[in-house]
Amino acid sequence: MRIEYDQIAEEYARHRRVHPGVLQDLLAATRPQADFSLLEVGCGTGNYIIALQQAAGCAAWGIDPSAQMLDRARQRSSSVRFQLGQAEKLDFPTASLDLVFSVDVIHHVGDRLAYFKDALRALRPGGRLCTVTDSAEIIRKRRPLTAYFPESAEVELKRYPPVEELKRLMSESGFSGLQEKEVAFPYSLSDIQAYRDKAFSSLHLIAPEAFSRGIQRMEEDLRQAPIPCVSYYYLLWGVKPIEG
Ligand SMILES: C[S@@+](CC[C@H](N)C(=O)[O-])C[C@H]1O[C@@H](n2cnc3c(N)ncnc32)[C@H](O)[C@@H]1O
Repeated sequence: MRIEYDQIAEEYARHRRVHPGVLQDLLAATRPQADFSLLEVGCGTGNYIIALQQAAGCAAWGIDPSAQMLDRARQRSSSVRFQLGQAEKLDFPTASLDLVFSVDVIHHVGDRLAYFKDALRALRPGGRLCTVTDSAEIIRKRRPLTAYFPESAEVELKRYPPVEELKRLMSESGFSGLQEKEVAFPYSLSDIQAYRDKAFSSLHLIAPEAFSRGIQRMEEDLRQAPIPCVSYYYLLWGVKPIEG
């Protein structure tokens, strides 16, 4: 089953925010400056690209195939240029970008090799690509998602590409200096509306009974105390070599 982001844009915009560890790493590793050009691929409602653009004051683009997600993004920033587009065909001039990144998108991309090759073309020498995703290890330890909806892990392990495959494809495309990192953000959950609203796409992919069981268990636990959670992400960085 495909996730139709046009249909869940409202819930997504209402509930999903930046992961502080991801944003910090994007900022620290690229130190975006006023003359930088940034592109977020699959920017959705614009959470990350808007935060980076505001921090750096630089040129920034966000592309996404969902018109509804882009509408929400445009309501939040007029400084980022939001355009319809998709990873497999980046409509950007050769050697024009300093950073290309995607967050929670690579599992939707059909031809990942085409994406990495086109990102390499569009980056300036020394420019960087970052893929932020979930490793198999992260999927198994997600809390609350896997803890309360264990069926979601089976679905996710089938649709998320293994990180070894991503590393191989990036090297094959010509990226060098690959670096990987995991970031964690512990927090307490006292409002589960985002889960009731299915603002996390895997909740659309499990059986209705599995969804109801998980929500019921969350409600029972919440009656005792806030639910301790940890949000993880895996970041894979690569550099476009400077020829010389
Ligand atoms: C889970 S959302 C992530 C949105 C945003 N990056 C964030 O983290 O808030 C996944 C996004 O990927 C987009 N997407 C799906 N297929 C894509 C593709 N082939 N190329 C680029 N983006 C795609 C969807 O429309 C959706 O907005």
